[in-house]
Amino acid sequence: MVARAVAVLALGTLTAQEYAGSRACAICHKAVAARYAKSGMARSASLMPPMPSAKISSAQRVFEVFAKDGTMWQRESGDGFTNEHQLVYAIGSGANGVSYAVKRGDHLFQAPLSWYAKTKTWELSPGYEHADYAFNRPIAAGCIACHAGRPRVVPLSSGRYLDPPFDELAIGCENCHGPGAKHARSAKQADIINPAKLPRARAEEVCMNCHQGGDARVLMTGKTEFSFRPGERLSESVAIFQAPSGAETDLLQHHEAMRESACFQKSPNLSCHTCHSPHGVSNDFNAKCAACHQPHGKGPDCAGCHMPKRPVGFIAHAALTNHRISLKPRTARAGGLAQINEGPAPDATTLFQAFGQALAKRPDFAGQFESTLRTATGPIANAAKGRAALRAGKFDDAVALLRGALDNGYRIAAVYEDLGDALGRAGRFDESLVVLREGLGVAPYSQTLHKSIALRHIQKKDYDNARKALETYVQLFPEDEFVRRLLRQVSGPG
Ligand code: HEC
Ligand code: HEC
Ligand code: HEC
Ligand code: HEC
Ligand code: HEC
Ligand code: HEC
Ligand code: HEC
Repeated sequence: MVARAVAVLALGTLTAQEYAGSRACAICHKAVAARYAKSGMARSASLMPPMPSAKISSAQRVFEVFAKDGTMWQRESGDGFTNEHQLVYAIGSGANGVSYAVKRGDHLFQAPLSWYAKTKTWELSPGYEHADYAFNRPIAAGCIACHAGRPRVVPLSSGRYLDPPFDELAIGCENCHGPGAKHARSAKQADIINPAKLPRARAEEVCMNCHQGGDARVLMTGKTEFSFRPGERLSESVAIFQAPSGAETDLLQHHEAMRESACFQKSPNLSCHTCHSPHGVSNDFNAKCAACHQPHGKGPDCAGCHMPKRPVGFIAHAALTNHRISLKPRTARAGGLAQINEGPAPDATTLFQAFGQALAKRPDFAGQFESTLRTATGPIANAAKGRAALRAGKFDDAVALLRGALDNGYRIAAVYEDLGDALGRAGRFDESLVVLREGLGVAPYSQTLHKSIALRHIQKKDYDNARKALETYVQLFPEDEFVRRLLRQVSGPG
């Protein structure tokens, strides 16, 4: 009762909120909270800890990690520039690796170097070996939805956060149990979700939302990456799609692998939490097998033989432990792009987005992307049709479609960039400039928007404003040598 009184006191200011916060849960659930605190999930994101310094050189660039005034920084320098930012958040507990976020205004961006836990070294962040993203790669809402507790995000503009950006930094109790303020006041069982008591599919979806990234994730109309609540049908918020994979691929994500297991297919109740106590760090997996199987004399490490581990690159976002428990070799999954979470058959508006996202991995989906887009409706479809018209050189059609998308609420950087481009190509420079500047309100760190503004001024032969725009650009993105050279040309000799 004392604990309860303390909890009610602590919650005094939270009456209007649906969430209580993990600290409030810990007041009554001390043992669970103490166990959970040691898990990777409880440390999925954190304020920047002190780290060893480093200096890494490539042909064109030098990257450094260093401490300054008790905070950690990364610097990128090259011929004629240096660019440095303070690291504000660490993403990942370090089980395999840690990536870092820097703050630019109210936007979060990834830092070029990540910490590789296995080798204990700093190296280029995944993807940065192909291109120099510098400090310009937005930390998308999706990263934060999977890696953080309760972020405070501006909907639709991925990468833009409120200040402070998190109500709770690491994954906490309510990510799996749902908003718990009511339960924390009442202490009634009926007021909180226990995933173990949900129908199997609903329980799995609590984990699946984060542990099955999929090849495409399409948000339902009006939903964001943060809409899903445990206990709800996941498909009300997002449709997760998987492209067919060949028999040789056994590098699956946890959910699809489990689904291909004999244990899952032949027992109605087996789910993630059958083997994993999500609060615990120590799980005796072999004891879990013993609940359904007799040992057959090959030794006690059942999982060691039937769920082998494999080496996977840093942050593969795929299972390291093979969750497909089966004696049979894997058969290729036939068919097209398939929705993996239970839900109504996806309509064309959902499908074209899924095919569009999967295109990077499967260029052969182009035909299906185009045919589903044709019948798709709504502002997101209009934005895609606008882009297609722009590429086909039909600038007036593009302008109408892209404007329609913006007017109907689809206000993301790419739509402003495309509309600015379409207007520019149609020779409507002043209108283009208005749209590009509007876009900066949504995405103040878009390289494309800043570059297009400079270009429009050049096209107008307004070299004064072109120079100003280029100066702003070079200040924001000093690593861009091409634009630095352009600025020197526009500024003229001397
Ligand atoms: C004031 C004390 C108190 C606080 C604060 C509290 N709980 Fe509980 N919780 C209880 C009690 C007591 C029970 C057992 C209720 C019963 O068995 O009738 C319980 C049960 C539960 C259960 C099991 C429900 C079931 O159906 O099996 C879960 C899950 C749970 N709490 C999660 C949470 C979470 C998450 C928070 C924070 C948002 C939280 N609790 C905060 C007292 C509290
Ligand atoms: C909000 C997203 C999210 C949800 C919901 C979630 N996980 Fe996780 N899980 C993660 C992330 C991110 C990691 C990697 C944490 C790290 O090490 O940085 C992780 C790690 C794990 C690990 C590795 C060990 C550990 O504790 O880190 C297990 C096991 C796991 N999750 C199981 C589950 C199960 C089972 C569920 C459902 C009951 C679940 N997770 C729900 C995001 C989530
Ligand atoms: C759909 C959910 C999801 C998204 C989106 C996602 N991650 Fe992850 N991430 C996970 C899970 C779950 C793990 C744990 C590894 C596993 O079991 O797949 C993980 C692992 C990691 C790790 C290694 C953590 C450790 O402790 O070893 C890092 C770092 C990471 N992710 C960074 C990112 C970044 C940066 C982004 C955005 C560009 C991102 N992730 C997007 C779910 C996600
Ligand atoms: C990654 C998802 C996840 C997180 C995070 C999580 N839980 Fe749970 N919790 C579960 C699942 C799944 C079960 C059901 C486990 C079972 O009984 O097999 C559960 C069961 C419970 C129960 C009832 C059974 C028991 O073990 O007492 C309580 C109480 C509880 N959780 C409290 C909490 C509290 C408090 C926190 C935060 C400190 C928390 N949980 C964080 C997934 C989670
Ligand atoms: C909830 C019960 C349950 C749990 C827990 C469970 N299994 Fe199973 N498992 C089954 C069922 C049911 C089958 C199908 C048996 C049949 O076809 O007769 C099966 C089949 C298998 C098979 C044969 C696969 C094949 O292709 O025929 C292996 C191997 C196996 N399990 C290993 C394990 C291991 C290892 C664990 C622990 C990590 C485990 N199981 C946990 C229920 C379970
Ligand atoms: C039959 C038992 C079983 C089931 C069911 C199961 N897991 Fe696991 N899982 C394991 C074992 C065994 C490991 C290896 C753990 C270790 O070595 O510490 C593991 C490891 C993991 C890890 C750590 C990363 C890795 O791949 O090694 C994550 C994350 C995870 N499981 C998530 C899930 C999720 C999500 C589900 C449900 C979709 C699930 N697991 C279902 C047995 C299971
Ligand atoms: C040294 C590797 C190894 C270990 C350890 C092992 N298994 Fe197996 N298991 C196999 C192989 C190989 C087969 C294929 C059939 C055979 O040769 O007996 C098999 C078959 C099975 C089957 C399906 C056929 C049957 O006998 O029912 C199940 C279920 C199973 N194992 C469960 C387990 C469980 C539970 C454990 C832990 C107590 C375990 N295995 C430990 C290698 C292993």
